[in-house]
Amino acid sequence: MKERIFLPVILLMLFMLVSLSHAETYTCLVCHSAMKQKIKTETGDVINLWIDEERFSSSVHGFASCDTCHKLFSENPHQKPSKAIPPNLIDMFNKMKPKARVDGVALVACMDCHPDIYNDYAESVHGKNIIAKRQKDGSSCIDCHGSVHYIVSKSSKDSSVNRANVVNTCGNCHNNEEIAKKYGYGLHIVEKYNESFHGKKYRLGHENAPTCVDCHGYHKVKKWDDPDSPVAMNNRKITCGKCHKGATDKFVVAITHKPIGKDNPIPYYVEKALMVLTISVFAFITIHVVLEIYAEIRDYVFRKKEE
Ligand code: HEC
Ligand code: HEC
Ligand code: HEC
Ligand code: HEC
Ligand code: HEC
Ligand code: HEC
Ligand code: HEC
Repeated sequence: MKERIFLPVILLMLFMLVSLSHAETYTCLVCHSAMKQKIKTETGDVINLWIDEERFSSSVHGFASCDTCHKLFSENPHQKPSKAIPPNLIDMFNKMKPKARVDGVALVACMDCHPDIYNDYAESVHGKNIIAKRQKDGSSCIDCHGSVHYIVSKSSKDSSVNRANVVNTCGNCHNNEEIAKKYGYGLHIVEKYNESFHGKKYRLGHENAPTCVDCHGYHKVKKWDDPDSPVAMNNRKITCGKCHKGATDKFVVAITHKPIGKDNPIPYYVEKALMVLTISVFAFITIHVVLEIYAEIRDYVFRKKEE
């Protein structure tokens, strides 16, 4: 008799749990799938209150209830949550504060499920820019991946980090002159890449042409002269060697997007030589034309005199 009640009770409890977690999502979306407006936050960022329910549920995080990440929120309407925020998240929340726009806890909640990636990221040049330098220029997860609500698999063409889109995604910041000047690296890196052998092949759809991430990595991006960077001198033979078997010390310096100047002497002198050549050709043509005109006038005057 006991066992027969037991099973339905467990089933009922399971059902209630499932519908409860659904109710959570549903409660937030009652408002957030209806409010199609943008607001300005205290930090001056403009945010979109509208969550596209269909896109969210078909995203990689569609399985999660809103408060999985938005731990500061509980059910309607924005009451204090019952669960405490884990200390490791509070710690990272304080570190990432310069980058938070609306909910700094949600911004670090990725750590719950992607802890290794988060640790790699925190040690990267982008993470350190925020955590150690207290700036907001470095990229956070969502600067590269787009709104968390709509992340799809990197193999989809709609993903901001898909091979087809990743150069533009890095370019959002790395083609920005202000950022380049502030941090002292080369201007217009994406344009330089586009003009390189690699960039040309990439744009022609060559499957093996390297994008930014094939040379620099993505979560663990380091400054290029940091010995841990895949493009530091000590690692270049391995990095270039992934595609150029037997790459030598001489070969690996062939690629650079350094501004033309003393650090990048070969193109510098080639450019100088081209300039001298162009100027000489123009000078030659001009002198030639002037002499021609002079001869023409002289002949004309001479003929007139003879007449
Ligand atoms: C009763 C309607 C309603 C419900 C339910 C609701 N929100 Fe909101 N939410 C709003 C409004 C209105 C704003 C913007 C105004 C404001 O916060 O001052 C907002 C703003 C936000 C913001 C932006 C930051 C902020 O505080 O302004 C986040 C994040 C957010 N809601 C998440 C949630 C989550 C997560 C849930 C469910 C746990 C939820 N909301 C449920 C109406 C609602
Ligand atoms: C996987 C984690 C995650 C889930 C699940 C999630 N959010 Fe968010 N949400 C975030 C992050 C991260 C931000 C940006 C926080 C910041 O920049 O400060 C954000 C921002 C927002 C904003 C501000 C507008 C914006 O897009 O920046 C609203 C509103 C919001 N979330 C509502 C919701 C609602 C409603 C749900 C459930 C349907 C939900 N979120 C589910 C992580 C999540
Ligand atoms: C509750 C656990 C959970 C949280 C919290 C979470 N994720 Fe995820 N995330 C997942 C799962 C599960 C997948 C899908 C598994 C897979 O296919 O790799 C995923 C997939 C992803 C992917 C796509 C991977 C691919 O296939 O290309 C990205 C990017 C991502 N998450 C970023 C984030 C970011 C950024 C945050 C924090 C704002 C976050 N996630 C928070 C569980 C979570
Ligand atoms: C500088 C840009 C950048 C930042 C910042 C970034 N990602 Fe990524 N992420 C990428 C790229 C690019 C890929 C896909 C690489 C590839 O082609 O395989 C990726 C892939 C992923 C994947 C799929 C698994 C994998 O390793 O390929 C997950 C999950 C993910 N990111 C989560 C995160 C989380 C969580 C954060 C924040 C801690 C984050 N990312 C920050 C660029 C970034
Ligand atoms: C073939 C490999 C390769 C590719 C592809 C590549 N880089 Fe680089 N990158 C390097 C090397 C090598 C350096 C070392 C410094 C130098 O010589 O320019 C570097 C340096 C940098 C620097 C620092 C430059 C400076 O002046 O200090 C940035 C920023 C950078 N790369 C961003 C990018 C971005 C963004 C992309 C994609 C558009 C990209 N890289 C594509 C190899 C590459
Ligand atoms: C939100 C803006 C932003 C995005 C997106 C971004 N970066 Fe960066 N990146 C920065 C900033 C800012 C720095 C300089 C940080 C510092 O020095 O404190 C930087 C530094 C770097 C450096 C080191 C430059 C050096 O001095 O050697 C490399 C390499 C780099 N990024 C590559 C990438 C790649 C590859 C991507 C795309 C997968 C990317 N970044 C996406 C903002 C961004
Ligand atoms: C992901 C693969 C990949 C990586 C990594 C890579 N390359 Fe390449 N590289 C290519 C492809 C593909 C071509 C075009 C080859 C062709 O046209 O036959 C190319 C062409 C070149 C060329 C033009 C001359 C030639 O040999 O065809 C040079 C020089 C070059 N790469 C240097 C480098 C250097 C230096 C590095 C490391 C900093 C590097 N590459 C990293 C794939 C790669």
